[in-house]
Order: sequence, then structure tokens, then C-alpha cells
Amino acid sequence: MKKIIIAIDGYSGCGKSTTAKAVAKGLQYTYLDSGAMYRAVTLYFLRNNTDLANSEEIINNLKDIKITFHFNEAKGIQEIFMNGENIEAEIRGMTVSSHVSEVSTVADVRTAMVDIQQRMGNDKGIVMDGRDIGTVVFPEAELKIFMTADTTIRAERRQKELLERGERISLDIVKENLESRDAIDSGRAVSPLKKALDAIEIDTSYLEFKDQVSKIIELAKERMN
Ligand code: DC
Repeated sequence: MKKIIIAIDGYSGCGKSTTAKAVAKGLQYTYLDSGAMYRAVTLYFLRNNTDLANSEEIINNLKDIKITFHFNEAKGIQEIFMNGENIEAEIRGMTVSSHVSEVSTVADVRTAMVDIQQRMGNDKGIVMDGRDIGTVVFPEAELKIFMTADTTIRAERRQKELLERGERISLDIVKENLESRDAIDSGRAVSPLKKALDAIEIDTSYLEFKDQVSKIIELAKERMN
């Protein structure tokens, strides 16, 4: 069986990351959460008060950011580190969530992130989730999935996740954040979120998690032959 690239794109809060992680585990593939990389850059920019209109400042800041992923055996999850600091929890909070889409519109940021992502996919055998994986990062990916789900259902899922992390946020605010991110992600000039022509759309609103995972694994196995 040949190794392939699986690109999973879609709107915020559709369950892309959890699905991609489970697919990677099932296939013994590497998982890469591209959104975590944009979140890490956003955290760095927030901490340094980076001026998003100043390209030189952005490029200089980007040079100072080293992003790595490490598997936490005890928790059974992959965690993201920035310059050696574990920032997994901090990047998932509302502060970063409120600024990440704006940071993701900056062309210099995207160029730097896409470059790292393409290098990480060099050997194939990878599942990557994001917004532009099937369209820009790996337009040649053997399997492209585009995930969607009803906005209220997505907001309820995200609200539950935030609560588990100790952040109590109203459903309206969570929903507003998702809708505004979707609008910025889909409307930006550089590599906007859109379904690749050859992507398979999966609406997860009423799908059981295990069913969406097994459907993608089944599709992947077809493409591996
Ligand atoms: O997948 P996520 O919700 O953690 O992603 C956070 C933000 O990062 C999302 O609102 C848009 C941006 N992003 C992007 O522009 N391109 C990607 N490939 C992944 C994420």
C-alpha cells in the first residue's frame, strides 16, 4: 500500500482536529494540526504587540518563532511548543481565538506556515487539517475531505470544549466567534477557505464521530491501493 496525504479542511468547530487525529491513529499516520500553528503565531504577536500592518515587523517576528510538536504519552495527545514552551492550553482559549483569523489573513504569515507544512508532508503518510490544505498546501493530496456542520451544533460543541478548559462563555458569543472566523477565513484575499473541486464533503451535524472517522479511513484505504 502506498503512503498518501489526507487533507481535511472546513469551517471552524466542525470537529476537523478530533477527526483528523483519530484517522491518523487508525492509519498509523502522522497528524498535523495546521490551525495550531496559526494560533501559536497569534499568541506570539499578541504577547509582542506586533503591528499587523507592518510587514517588516511581522517578518522579523516570524524569524524568532520556532514551532514544534511533541507527543505527550501520559495524555495521549500531541502538544504544540513555541520556542520550547508548551502553549497547547493557551492557544485554545478565547483570546487567541478572537485574533487568529485576522493574523491568518497576513500573506507573510501564510507563506511561512505553508512552507513548514509542505516540508512536514514531504514523506507523505500524513493527515493535516486546516482551511487551505487541499487547495494550497497539498493541491495534489490523494484524499481531500471538506467538513461542514450546522453553526449552532458547532457552537455547542465548542462551548463544551471551552467549559472543559475552565472558560465559561455564552453560546451567543461562541457562535459569533465561529461565524466571524468563518467570514474572515472564507473572505480573505490570500488562500481563502473553500472546498477544493475534488474534495469530498462530509456534514458532521448528525453523524456519529466513529462513523465519520471510519468513512474517511475507508476512503483513504481505497486511495492507498
Ligand atoms: O483549526 P483552528 O480553528 O484551530 O484554526 C484557527 C484559525 O487559523 C482559523 O480561524 C483560521 C486559521 N487557519 C488558516 O487560516 N489556515 C489553516 N490551514 C488553518 C487555520
